[in-house]
Amino acid sequence: MGEHLIFLGPPGVGKGTQAQVLSRLLGLPHVSTGDMLRASVSSGTAFGQRAKAVMESGQLVGDELIIGLVAERLGMADARDGVVFDGFPRTMAQAQALDDLLARRGARVRAVIHIDLPSEGIVERLSGRRVCVQCGAIYHVKYQPSRVEGVCDLCGGRLVQRDDDQPEVILKRLEVYAAETAPLVAYYERRPSYHRVTGEGDAEAVTSRILAALGIRAVHG
Ligand code: AP5
Repeated sequence: MGEHLIFLGPPGVGKGTQAQVLSRLLGLPHVSTGDMLRASVSSGTAFGQRAKAVMESGQLVGDELIIGLVAERLGMADARDGVVFDGFPRTMAQAQALDDLLARRGARVRAVIHIDLPSEGIVERLSGRRVCVQCGAIYHVKYQPSRVEGVCDLCGGRLVQRDDDQPEVILKRLEVYAAETAPLVAYYERRPSYHRVTGEGDAEAVTSRILAALGIRAVHG
């Protein structure tokens, strides 16, 4: 029976950063719908080209497509014991579809981790973000710099700024979050699996709060 983790929260709050850590600590795959879409964009398929236009405008890709991608991903062998979702679900239709998909598999949501941060902090985090084109590792020019500027510490890949991290697109993404995704808090918050943690402080401090909420003892190294 799979036990899945969901990261909920506005763009730039640190979902991807924390999902990568939790994925490593728990030995579960990190399933980021944003990364899956960016992989389609890089592959240059017709679907990728359509997704690129939607993402660069700060809007959401259609529910049916996203739910199809996730259903396919959950069917893979490495997802049997659960996954760490990052950026999914982000509409009510996606949350309901996930509950149905998990119920059919006898699986469940182990935890919904809602990371919260005021919007000034979000804009600063997104404006300084750099990501590795090769392995997807996440950096920040001020808060999580790579050892060599522009080069990934983990794989030596090139670090770039995401196309949707431009100021006007960031504002649109925040608006879309408020309209489409924030209502999911009401969908999950009465469940015992729901945990709200503040995203303030450095990434390690946020990880410690998440581990405490999940009742997991911190493992160093
Ligand atoms: P997606 O890739 O999911 O982007 P997002 O949700 O907007 O979230 P981000 O990746 O921007 O931020 P994050 O919270 O992961 O922050 P991060 O850890 O990187 O989606 C992109 C687009 O794809 C969407 O707009 C949509 O078009 C489409 N899409 C994706 N999923 C979809 C879905 N389910 N349905 C429909 N459409 C979908 O951190 C940000 C920065 O802050 C980094 O530089 C990091 O180093 C830094 N940082 C992190 N934590 C800290 C800390 N504690 N202190 C200081 N800096 C920190």
